Amino acid sequence: MNVAVVILAAGQSTRMKSRLPKVLHPLVGKPMISYGIETAARLGAGKPVLVVGHGMEQVRATVGEAAEYAVQAEQLGTGHAVLQARSLLEGCSDAVVVYYGDMPLLTVETLQQLLDLHAEDRSPITMLTLLAADARGFGRIQRDSEGHVLGITEEVDCTAEQLETREMNAGVYCFEASWLWENLPHLQLSRKGEYYLTDTVAMAAAQGTAAMAVTTEDDSECLGINTRVHLAEAEKVMRQRINRKWMLAGVTLVDPATTTIAATVQIGQDTVIHANTHLQGATQIGRDCSIGPNSVLVDTIVGDRCQIKLSVTEQARLEDDVDIGPFAHLRKGAHLARGVHMGNFGEVKNSYLGPGVKMGHFSYLGDATVGADANIGAGTITCNYDGQRKHRTIIEEGAFIGSDTMLVAPLRVGAGARTGAGSVVTHDVPPGSTAYGVPARVSEKLDRDTTDGSRDEGVAS
Ligand code: UD1
Ligand code: CA
Repeated sequence: MNVAVVILAAGQSTRMKSRLPKVLHPLVGKPMISYGIETAARLGAGKPVLVVGHGMEQVRATVGEAAEYAVQAEQLGTGHAVLQARSLLEGCSDAVVVYYGDMPLLTVETLQQLLDLHAEDRSPITMLTLLAADARGFGRIQRDSEGHVLGITEEVDCTAEQLETREMNAGVYCFEASWLWENLPHLQLSRKGEYYLTDTVAMAAAQGTAAMAVTTEDDSECLGINTRVHLAEAEKVMRQRINRKWMLAGVTLVDPATTTIAATVQIGQDTVIHANTHLQGATQIGRDCSIGPNSVLVDTIVGDRCQIKLSVTEQARLEDDVDIGPFAHLRKGAHLARGVHMGNFGEVKNSYLGPGVKMGHFSYLGDATVGADANIGAGTITCNYDGQRKHRTIIEEGAFIGSDTMLVAPLRVGAGARTGAGSVVTHDVPPGSTAYGVPARVSEKLDRDTTDGSRDEGVAS
């Protein structure tokens, strides 16, 4: 059985009260629609057809090549939306799976169940229904006394008795393709002025070929996101799914309820993630690390045996055995080599810190290259910006930067050189020498030339 997938995402999303199209609202860090697209890919059904309309430029820009597009210029209902995919799909498949772009929690296993039943029966429609206490505004399933499905009644059209029905329309269908394309154009306008896809079910029943149903009681999977309340519910479910996967794979989550791990993140065995920690984007963490509590890692690569406490990192890289925090901030292009120690209130941007570098307290390194085993004293700052341009600072291997040194870039501090506490260094410091004072001078020169007492200001560190 050859299968095509159609995902509906053209609606106005009025109930979200948002300028952003509903299907682009993020869920655990990814646009909601990307989950539906990935589910289609996992089904092995080729590129899904995404029906777009409201906010279509934005949706297309986000989804890109992962789907083909059918445009629904006017939002005349879910049935009308599927009809827009006909010219792309008619004659191309035996079955057409349809679901809505606002149900990111749908799993490929459930879709497969639907497909299996459909392949057995080849009825015009095989659909997913949900038995649940909370109706959430879903359409209600009507069955006859023998249990045959007669149709779906949208909540707004239900009688008081129909509202009592606890079997709901989940919004996932597998249609026999030839039946769908033949019958879809004959949908009647609903009272609401829309062509409901759900009315195809009554059409099939009237033809004596009632729809088949797979019934689930897992309401989390069928969560259709119409409001931001639903969005928060879905976020929680998705977060739990991902957290569970990592725990079963050998990662300790101390407090899963306050831990968010984006679907794109990788974590190594025996790493411990502490409470209130958020791993986002393309973050990858090695083995035996301790991350958090209270940390946010965005697009950060972390080696093995690292410790990150109460810190924020963005587009950074930590090699093995690095420890940072509490209150460290790594920004774009921060690269900390093996064994770097960075204590509290440090910030590193676009800089390489060589193996074993120590930067214990209150420092800023921007556009810097620091050689192995250098020591960055408390309060050290690279003055990398002159108001117009950024300049680099190079601190060579084994250099000792005294507390509260201002390194005015461009600047090179040679291997093994030292700077005095509180010095403002404006010129290169030769290897092995000491610079101190404001502005700093190199010590041999001071010994020879200075008689003005400025030496006293350059307290050795
Ligand atoms: C729909 C079903 C309802 C089901 C529920 C499950 C219909 C008529 N109703 O209701 O039976 O219980 O989902 O979540 O199908 N869309 C378009 N074009 C349109 C209208 C909608 O592409 O003209 C898209 C929307 O972007 C959305 C999806 O179709 O992704 C569903 O529309 P929505 O308005 O959310 O339907 P519900 O009221 O939730
Ligand atoms: Ca919906």
